[in-house]
Amino acid sequence: KKDTIILGIESSCDDTSAAVLKNTAILSNIIAGQKIHEEYGGVVPELASRAHQQNIIPVVESAIKKAGIRKEDIDAIAFTKGPGLLGSLVVGTSFSKAFSLAMNIPMMDVNHMHGHVLAHFIDDGDKNKPSFPFLCLTVSGGHTQIVLVKDYLGMQVIGSTIDDAAGEAFDKSAKLLGFPYPGGPLIDRHARNGNPKRFEFSKPQIKEYDYSFSGLKTSILYFLQKQEKENPDFIRENLDDLCASIQHTIIEILLKKLKKAAKELNIKEIAIAGGVSANSGLRKAIEATANELKWNTYIPKFEYCTDNAAMIAITGKYMYEKGLFADQSIAAKARVEM
Ligand code: KG4
Ligand code: ZN
Repeated sequence: KKDTIILGIESSCDDTSAAVLKNTAILSNIIAGQKIHEEYGGVVPELASRAHQQNIIPVVESAIKKAGIRKEDIDAIAFTKGPGLLGSLVVGTSFSKAFSLAMNIPMMDVNHMHGHVLAHFIDDGDKNKPSFPFLCLTVSGGHTQIVLVKDYLGMQVIGSTIDDAAGEAFDKSAKLLGFPYPGGPLIDRHARNGNPKRFEFSKPQIKEYDYSFSGLKTSILYFLQKQEKENPDFIRENLDDLCASIQHTIIEILLKKLKKAAKELNIKEIAIAGGVSANSGLRKAIEATANELKWNTYIPKFEYCTDNAAMIAITGKYMYEKGLFADQSIAAKARVEM
C-alpha cells in the first residue's frame, strides 16, 4: 500500500504551524510563535490574524522543505476549522482551501480539540498508545475538558470549565505575580524551587465533572493585596513558594474531578493533553496517581502538548481514511462542538 502524506495546518490562536505527516510519522512540524502579544499581557486577536497572514506561506514552505518532499507528493491537507479566534482560523482555513483547489487534493476540517487528544497517536518510536475507551484531560489556554474517547473520532465531553480554563488560571495568576504572558511556563519553573504547601488558596465546589477557576484567581488577588499592604516586597520575597502553592492548587483541582470520572466510569486508561500538560508538576502528579490507582497514563511529548500542526495532521489522517472531506463552502468557526 502506498504511503499517505498529509499536510497539517494550525492557526487557531497565536501560533502559526504546518506539519508533514507520512502515515503516522511526523516528518516536520514547524511552529512560528508570536512575540507581539507579550507586551499586551494576552493574545490580541487583530494582531494574531495579521501575523498568521505573514507567517503562513513561509511556515508551510519550511515544513515541506524540512520533510524532504515535494508539494506534489501531498495527498491531502488538514486544517483547524475551530474552536479558536475567528480571525486566526480564517487564515489557515483560506490557505487550505486555496491549496486544496490549486493542488486538486481533498481537505479535512479538523476540530482543534480532537487534535489535542489525537496527538497521542503520533508515532514517536517506542511509546505505547492509549486503548479505547480512555479518558483525556485536555487542558489548554482556552479549554479544560474531561473527554471520554471511545474511538479516534468518537469523543464525548463529560466535564468542562464553567469559567476560566486551566491555562488561563496559570496565566492570570502569573500576571498577578508580575510575569509576562503566557506566565504558565514561568510559574512551572519557579514552582520547582518552592514549597507547594506554604500558602492555601480556595478550591471550588462544582457539580459533576465540571471545573471552575475564577474563584482561585480572586482568592489569590485578595491574598496578595493583603500581604502587600504589610510588606510591599511580599511577592518578590516569596515568589517560588507562591508559584509552587498556586500550581499545587490548580493540579489538585484538576486531579479531583479526573479521579472521580475515572472511578465512576471505571476507566484506567488516562491521558492528558493541551498546553498545560507540559506542566512538570501536573506530569508528576499524574504519574503518582497512576501508581496509586493502577492507571495506565499517557503524556504527549512536549512539542505535541502546546498548539502544533502535527496533531491536526494526525487527526486529518483518520478523517482521510474515512473519506470525511470538506468542500469549498467550508468556513472557520470560533465555536465547534465535539
Ligand atoms: O494548547 P495551548 O498551546 O494553546 C491553546 O489551545 O490554548 O495552551 C497554552 C496554555 C497557556 O495558558 C500556557 O500558559 C499553558 O498552556 N502552559 C503551561 C505550561 N506550558 C504551557 N502552563 C503551566 N505550565 C507549563 N509548563
Ligand atoms: Zn490548543
